[in-house]
Amino acid sequence: MARTAHSSRLRCCLLLAVFVSQFVERVCGVWPLPQEIQQSGDSSGLSPQLFSFTYSQDSAAQTGCSVLDTAFKRYFSIIFPDFTKEGLHDMWLEPKAFVVSVSVKTRGCDGYPDEDSDESYNLSVSDGQAVLRSVTVWGALRGLESFSQLVYRDDYGAYFINKTEIVDFPRFAFRGLLLDTSRHYLPLHAILKTLDAMAYSKLNVFHWHIVDDPSFPYQSRTFPDLSKKGAFHPFTHIYTQSDVMRVIEHARMRGIRVVPEFDSPGHTQSWGKGQPDLLTPCYKGSMPSGTFGPVDPTVDTTYRFMERLLKEVKFVFPDSYVHLGGDEVSFACWQSNPNVGKFMEKMGFGRDFTKLESFYMESIMNITAALNKTSIVWQDVFDYHERPRSQYVVEVWKQGCYLCEMRRVTKAGLKVILAAPFYLDLPIPTQNWARYYGVRPLAFRGTKEQKKLVIGGEVAMWGEYVDATNLHPRLWPRACAAAERLWSNEEKTLNADLAFPRLEEFRCKLVRRGIQAEPLFVGHCKQEFNGL
Ligand SMILES: *[C@@H]1O[C@H](CO)[C@@H](O)[C@H](O)[C@H]1NC(C)=O
Repeated sequence: MARTAHSSRLRCCLLLAVFVSQFVERVCGVWPLPQEIQQSGDSSGLSPQLFSFTYSQDSAAQTGCSVLDTAFKRYFSIIFPDFTKEGLHDMWLEPKAFVVSVSVKTRGCDGYPDEDSDESYNLSVSDGQAVLRSVTVWGALRGLESFSQLVYRDDYGAYFINKTEIVDFPRFAFRGLLLDTSRHYLPLHAILKTLDAMAYSKLNVFHWHIVDDPSFPYQSRTFPDLSKKGAFHPFTHIYTQSDVMRVIEHARMRGIRVVPEFDSPGHTQSWGKGQPDLLTPCYKGSMPSGTFGPVDPTVDTTYRFMERLLKEVKFVFPDSYVHLGGDEVSFACWQSNPNVGKFMEKMGFGRDFTKLESFYMESIMNITAALNKTSIVWQDVFDYHERPRSQYVVEVWKQGCYLCEMRRVTKAGLKVILAAPFYLDLPIPTQNWARYYGVRPLAFRGTKEQKKLVIGGEVAMWGEYVDATNLHPRLWPRACAAAERLWSNEEKTLNADLAFPRLEEFRCKLVRRGIQAEPLFVGHCKQEFNGL
């Protein structure tokens, strides 16, 4: 890989020397690659004091549209990072007006993005103006991001944009990123910054793996003891209701959905601290050993508790999806417990504990269905019960033949999300980004209908070895490789060597915007990381 990277670098330098004037920064384009993009050498200058975003007259959204009003401000400072109204006037000898006019077909400024949101947009940049058209405000956000990436500076700091035509839409509707806030607590700023970088990469689902065995940082209104006793610290290492609302609003402003995960029946050790009779007591011989296993699926109190918790989750998190986990349940404790044994007998499960888990997961999925939510579960749930009795979304996470699993799940008529090849938590070298880039989510044998059930993929950043000190460099720019795989046309983005210079440039853009994205190879950014 190092060699490949090196040769692309050389190729890019040659291109630079031959075609591009040494004073103008090379413009390789937009990341992730738009479905169609045509650029020309006609460039126009931009001067911040005469630059503006406006709503075009025919737009359904007008001033007062929260999502776009704030996006205009945000992108102005992203495009002109060091502009202050007072200084710098003399730098632009002939300031010229430039207007970006935005036209959105449907208003919907106060809603939330969802599974069916249309994120398509058309962007046309010409001399002195740009026209951005989209169906929804979420599509307009994607177009503003592309616009911001087209602007470049020369060595004197002047701003330019070239004549460009873009027609763009995502390949997959679900382009997720998982953060794990149980194994290490991530302060709010780390989550918000991740959402910023997701928007730059056009990722659109924040999968919040908010609780797990090690800690329960979610401060529940209904069950305050869960975080009081189950968080690493009851005051400093929790997410209050207002923290959660801030995350959801920050995400909404960037067209990002927030899908919370309350993983059970396994991965619940921390829940047991604040909710005494929830977990199964494990036995040693005929006596309880004092340790606890997964959630106890044999008692009514469990389902009443889960129902109240999920009701709260429905109220707090507006997204129509909720992730119910269901992975890696250890059966040893259930096996040891005589009450569980009796229950198994009564239900006719024999000694097959996968049936017990299926029984539990089905009950929980029925609760979410009654709350009008779509359940996502890890693939274990499907594997135990390949003939699904209800509709749910399967997330494929196991290494090995993940495409075989995609094939089985879609054959059963269920929607599927691919995470297995996008685990980023283990520190493989950054230069191996192409490993994620090379993933082909639809490369399994199956009908057109089956392929349509693949709704997307997800980057997973588990927290065993990750906290706020190393989160961003471990995510970026490797997550960008997955982001392009999930957004762009695969046929046009199969060659990692061709993508490399564009990714390098995008990584520098992330760095300039304050994201600690790791370097991909020897080189420099025009503006190095500023330490903030
Ligand atoms: C943008 O325009 C400049 C100046 O004409 C040119 O050197 C550069 O190659 C153009 N970039 C693209 C991507 O067309």
